Amino acid sequence: MSKASTADGHDELQRGAGGALGAEEAVRAWRRAADSAVLLDGFHALKHALRFGADVPVALAVDKAAARALADDLAPDVAGELAARLVEVPGDVLRALVPRLHPTGVAALAGRPARADNLAAIGRTGRTTPVIVLDEPRNLGNAGAVIRLAAGYGAAGVATTGSLDPWHPIVVRGGAGLHFATAVERLTVAELPDGPLYALDPEGADIRGLTLPDDALLAFGSERSGLSDALRARADHLVSLPMRPQVSSYNLATSVGMTLFHWSAHSTHAP
Ligand SMILES: C[S@@+](CC[C@H](N)C(=O)[O-])C[C@H]1O[C@@H](n2cnc3c(N)ncnc32)[C@H](O)[C@@H]1O
Repeated sequence: MSKASTADGHDELQRGAGGALGAEEAVRAWRRAADSAVLLDGFHALKHALRFGADVPVALAVDKAAARALADDLAPDVAGELAARLVEVPGDVLRALVPRLHPTGVAALAGRPARADNLAAIGRTGRTTPVIVLDEPRNLGNAGAVIRLAAGYGAAGVATTGSLDPWHPIVVRGGAGLHFATAVERLTVAELPDGPLYALDPEGADIRGLTLPDDALLAFGSERSGLSDALRARADHLVSLPMRPQVSSYNLATSVGMTLFHWSAHSTHAP
């Protein structure tokens, strides 16, 4: 594609042959979809989203050949799909759409799964893997890291209470696009599905003496103030992670990782 400096980079796109016209179309499609879609920031988020069946109407790259090489190397299972979808656009055009462009120079938009489908997955009777509940989390990076853990362990879903949007772009970035590998929704404590609720708290019973059932809700408190009163009232068990005296608590995502690991050690449904 030939380079020319223009007000917004679009004339440059129109001048190219074949694929360049596709670039113009793709940028228009991006602008139409951006407000309601989920931003997939970087190659890895796009790779995971495609792998787990996300609807990706538009995917852009500053250097398509470099992105294809990454796919051939790291994700041959989706390399063909990625190559078919990626449209190359100049860096200034992509940065105008995504100001803090990921180092891989790749960005895409995906449709957000229907809330009804996520609620059905989270509330399904006879779930064989736990639902993670984050009770009023504050930190977007923590929420993303937890969604990544939930995806890795095959958890039935992640439900958050409180004001944090678990589909915020920073959460999706932290989760590396793995929102599409589990079910992620914001709920109130009253809306949480049935199932034995194990709430993690340093004052609870030592987790090493327990087997966490496959259909458990595993709940974790906020970074700032721990479990809310409403969540404590709904809890069936308070559970603690081993921790030496004088250490107040573990990081939220670390606590989820340890708890899922403990569940997995006793479950036939763990990966
Ligand atoms: C950073 S901690 C919250 C610290 C907060 N200042 C408090 O008062 O509890 C976030 C969450 O991680 C979990 N957590 C952290 N350390 C834990 C431990 N040793 N045992 C059980 N849960 C723990 C709890 O669910 C806690 O609410």
